[in-house]
Parts: sequence; C-alpha cells; structure tokens
Amino acid sequence: MIAASIPDYRELARRRLPRFLFDYIDGGSYAEVTLRRNIADLEDIALRQRVLRDVSNLDLSTELFGQKQALPVALAPIGLAGMNARRGECQAVRAAETAGIPFTLSTVSACSMAEVAKAASRPFWFQLYMIRDRGFIRELLQEAVELKCSTLIFTVDMPVPGSRYRDYHSGLAGAPGLKGAMRRALQGAMKPDWAWDVGVMGRPHGLGNVARKLQGKTGIEDFFAWMRENFDSSISWADLDFIRSEWKGPLVIKGLLDPEDAKEAAAIGADGIVVSNHGGRQLDGVLSSAQALPPIVDAVGDKLTVLADGGVRSGLDVLRMLALGAKGVLLGRAWAFALAARGQAGVEHMLKLIEAEMRVAMTLTGVGSIGEIDRSILANR
Ligand SMILES: Cc1cc2nc3c(=O)[nH]c(=O)nc-3n(C[C@H](O)[C@H](O)[C@H](O)COP(=O)(O)O)c2cc1C
Repeated sequence: MIAASIPDYRELARRRLPRFLFDYIDGGSYAEVTLRRNIADLEDIALRQRVLRDVSNLDLSTELFGQKQALPVALAPIGLAGMNARRGECQAVRAAETAGIPFTLSTVSACSMAEVAKAASRPFWFQLYMIRDRGFIRELLQEAVELKCSTLIFTVDMPVPGSRYRDYHSGLAGAPGLKGAMRRALQGAMKPDWAWDVGVMGRPHGLGNVARKLQGKTGIEDFFAWMRENFDSSISWADLDFIRSEWKGPLVIKGLLDPEDAKEAAAIGADGIVVSNHGGRQLDGVLSSAQALPPIVDAVGDKLTVLADGGVRSGLDVLRMLALGAKGVLLGRAWAFALAARGQAGVEHMLKLIEAEMRVAMTLTGVGSIGEIDRSILANR
C-alpha cells in the first residue's frame, strides 16, 4: 500500500504491529468519546477559501522557545515509541531533524535520553511526568541539562492513568504473569516483520530512562506497575515551583483544557502550555482540544506560548489549530503510526505530507506565512 495520508499510515501500522501495540497507540480511555471528539471537532472546522491573493512565496517556518524551525509542528512525547520500530526514538529524532522540527522524548521512552542524544545532532525536547521520588526527578533534569535538551515539557494530566479497555482486551493490561506474556508473544509471532525488526534486531529491550529504577526488570508489566506506584496524584501547583526552580530553560506545561489552569501556568512562570487531553487517553468525556483552545488563547495568549495537540491527522488540521490560536502543534499518533509502518523514512514522509497539505491550505486560504494565520481564515467564525 502506498501511504498518501496519515490514515494510510495508521492502516500500515495496524498491519505491521502486534495487536497489543497497535491498540496501545490507537486506543483511548473508556468509551473513547474524547478520542473521537478530537478528530471530529477538527474536521468540522470549515476553512474560508480565498483566491487571487498571490501567495507564491509561502513561508512555513516559525520560532518556538527561541529556536527557528521549518514547520510549526513538533513530535509529541510518545511512551514506548521505541517498540514500534527498531530503536524507534532514535529513528524518530533523526526524522525530526531532517524535517527541521523538534522531537520530544517521553519520560517513559524505550531508548534512554543518552542513546537518543547520541543519535541526534541537535538539541531535542524532554518530557517529564511528576514522579513521587523527587531525587529521581532531579537526576532526570540534570541529565537533560547535560545532554543539552532545549525545552522541558512537563505533563500534568496523568496523576493517575486513565483506563483503556483496548489494553485489557489485547492483554497489555490486566493479564499478569505467564498468561499475559504468552498472549503478547503469540500476537508478536503473527507479525514476523515486526518480530524480526524490533523483537530480534531491536534488542536490548530496556525501559529507557526508568530502567535504573526497575532493578533489572524489563517486563512490560513491571513497567506499568512502576508507573502506577510512582506517578504522583498529590501533585499541586505548589509542586510546579519545584520544577520551575530546578529547570532554567523553557518550561512548557502539557495537558491543560481550562483557562483558569492556563492562568495558573502563567503565574508559576511557565513559558508555554500544551492544550491537550492526552489524545483522549485520560479523562474520557472532556472537551476536545479544538474546543478548549480558543478560550485559553483568549485568557493567556499574550503571556504564554500556547501549543495544542489531539486529533491532528493532516496538514489541514495543523492549519485549523493555528487558526484557533495555537502557535505550534504537537503530532502524536501521526508519527507513532508512521514510525511503526516505515521507521525513520515513514516519519520523514509523514512530515512531508503535512508540509504539502499545509502549502495547499495556506495558498487557498490566502495566507503567506504562519504569523498571518488567525481566526479570519475560518468560515462562520
Ligand atoms: C501511544 C501514546 C503514548 C503517549 N505517551 C505519552 C507520554 O509518555 N507523555 C506525554 O506527555 N504524552 C503522551 N501521549 C500523548 C501525546 O503526547 C499527545 O498528547 C497525543 O498523542 C495527541 O493526540 P493525537 O495522538 O491524537 O495527535 C501519548 C500518546 C499516545 C498515543
């Protein structure tokens, strides 16, 4: 199959990955209402076509947190992305560099920060969750500084994990011991290309940044158990002062849907926020990002760099998020699918598709540069 779109990459990923991994990426929490809403609400936004405005010199570049980038997008943090393709995060960081955009490494990546730094030739972004062990947080932040990570994305919408039914059905969650391992092994054996690429050639299968806390355990269940025990639901805005004081570079709070929370982020001295519902993977039933974004931009757009993610499946969706007021857009499943389907080349191609779609959309909405994109390119708004 020739991939011409992000939904095509989703289909290729479905064919290549064992079921437990595809469903882990594709799924959302509970009845997946918010997951569907993210996509549907973006699709529903009608663009205002304008013609004959000489937009022959399009400029898609922008600047986020002091760094020039070729497109107004970044790769979102995706936990365990390294299981989608051999040493997956290393392939993805190289693809992001080729496209001239930032890559974000998740706290819970498969490849460690040091391995990704070796694969990279430029600074990348690091994403952190609030972990009970503040000493470990300090260690991770220290390492991020030493490895020259340029921006910290601090995710706040996972004090507890949302329940994902698909993970129970696939055996990724709730199937402890040998029985679960056998189910997953069987699913892996049914996908020989993946089994060879990741299962055999992708070794060692460590748990990246948290491996040192797992005392030699490498099982997927050990990892999820660690997450359940160590994610901190007692976190409050006061704890963000700790993060702000430990991290001197640009700090971006990810996972906000409410203007009041966005004001708190501005008050603690954050540089930016990501309007996000974790891709519909946490509290099902909350607003889509596209719905939540405009009031947040109205409340804090002059104080903070507002980014957004959730449901972006084309360059048109990127344009829609920018028109709603985002200064940049994070791509989540879009790159996870492309990586699973074709590795680094897949992510590079997916980003080319985004760029090409943005060029058409900018030409036909009559905007020549990213800075010109605002709500005036939307119909009926
Ligand atoms: C498989 C998967 C793993 C994710 N892991 C993380 C993570 O480790 N840290 C984080 O902040 N967000 C994580 N997210 C959320 C993404 O960063 C992003 O907010 C979301 O995917 C955006 O929605 P989209 O996938 O519809 O584009 C994950 C999302 C997916 C699909």
